[in-house]
Amino acid sequence: MNIAVVGAQWGDEGKGKLIDILSKDTDLTVRYQGGNNAGHTVVVGDQEYVFHLLPSAILHKSKVCVIGNGVVVDPKALLGEIEDLQKRGLKITPNNLKISGLCHIVLPYHRILDGLRESKRKNKIGTTGRGIGPCYADKVARCGIRMIDLLNPRLLKSKLEDNLTEKNEIFEKVYGKKNFSFGDIYNEYLNYGKKLGPYVADTVIYLNAAIDKKKSILFEGAQGTFLDIDFGTYPFVTSSNSIVGGACSGTGVPPTKIDKVIACVKAYTTRVGEGPFPTEFSTGLKEDIRTRGNEYGATTGRPRRCGWFDSILVRYSLIINGVSELAIMKLDVLDHLPAIKICTAYRYKGKIYKQFPMDFEVLSKAQPIYEELPGWNTSLRGIRQYAKLPSNARRYIERFEELLKVRVKYISIGTKRDEIIVR
Ligand code: IMO
Ligand code: MG
Repeated sequence: MNIAVVGAQWGDEGKGKLIDILSKDTDLTVRYQGGNNAGHTVVVGDQEYVFHLLPSAILHKSKVCVIGNGVVVDPKALLGEIEDLQKRGLKITPNNLKISGLCHIVLPYHRILDGLRESKRKNKIGTTGRGIGPCYADKVARCGIRMIDLLNPRLLKSKLEDNLTEKNEIFEKVYGKKNFSFGDIYNEYLNYGKKLGPYVADTVIYLNAAIDKKKSILFEGAQGTFLDIDFGTYPFVTSSNSIVGGACSGTGVPPTKIDKVIACVKAYTTRVGEGPFPTEFSTGLKEDIRTRGNEYGATTGRPRRCGWFDSILVRYSLIINGVSELAIMKLDVLDHLPAIKICTAYRYKGKIYKQFPMDFEVLSKAQPIYEELPGWNTSLRGIRQYAKLPSNARRYIERFEELLKVRVKYISIGTKRDEIIVR
């Protein structure tokens, strides 16, 4: 069975942990969009691993990990990630890691432009500063440089020369910055090409051949539905399709081959960066949940904004992603609360909204309407069976199922690999 895992909120839902668990039973795991703006955390014993470009399944020895064509690769970051893991004793070789030759490459001017654009904007997005937006913009503008180009010195030279002619003029005239040296970038990236070359493969053929041989694939989404370039809280989004549709364009595997979609949500809501967030806490709960949930960005270390669970958002995600099952993560973070709220509608100018509004102003100014459920007021630590959960915790989960009309299959009750309930 080929399974896709997507985030149904604003990212950081716990996809890394779920992928780590599910990938035990699948043959291959493939990332399909985003880049090293992602931060997927897996905790094994007392060891914590954070993956940015590598699929979270890389911890399993016999599994193959693939970086699909839809991912934008910063080669310096990727090599750093590979080296760090090798130092920690993991084997990463061309046998267990394949990178699509069609991946677009993040160049120094993308990273710098990301920061400069942010500093000039009145309405800041709060990007991760990894050059992701400018890299995808160049892909669409048809001036991107792809992984396969790093293996071809003549092509790289010609593309880079063309790009720098334009970029240097922009940097100088718009931002008053100094020119990039062709030689420096060319030599640096040729060198990355030499190092990454052995991993580069035609992953479209590789993945589809694997499917023909009845191997199973796990698609690892990055970011979340409300950071999707089309369906998210635009313009406060990332620059790729983080919905399940991105899994097809980002790997070359056709939609007919994806058998199941699992959406990952937090038992509450978080968001890093700017943009509307109707259920954001305004009280002391903000710090309380941030501390208990360790809600700091795994990529940038920024404190995450926290709020109540928003069923309006997640219902919309379930529609877009055709979700078969839900995974609720970090339920234990709510252990101490006497009462827990779920947003079931928004109110704006006297009108009630039960669907995610298209109008940005409505979303930004909407007042959430909540229903309140009693908390369970006890630790969930050590519980492995659904029936053993306190009745109020089960009530919370079952209310999700009623509101969202989807089955909750996985419930995470701690950071560690085995702290999960499978129903
Ligand atoms: P994972 O995969 C949470 C957010 C940034 C910013 C917006 C645009 O760990 O869930 P970008 O650098 O992508 O142009 O920034 O998107 N963002 C994420 N937020 N989790 C992520 O990834 C994110 N990747 C990007 O904070 O608001
Ligand atoms: Mg993250």
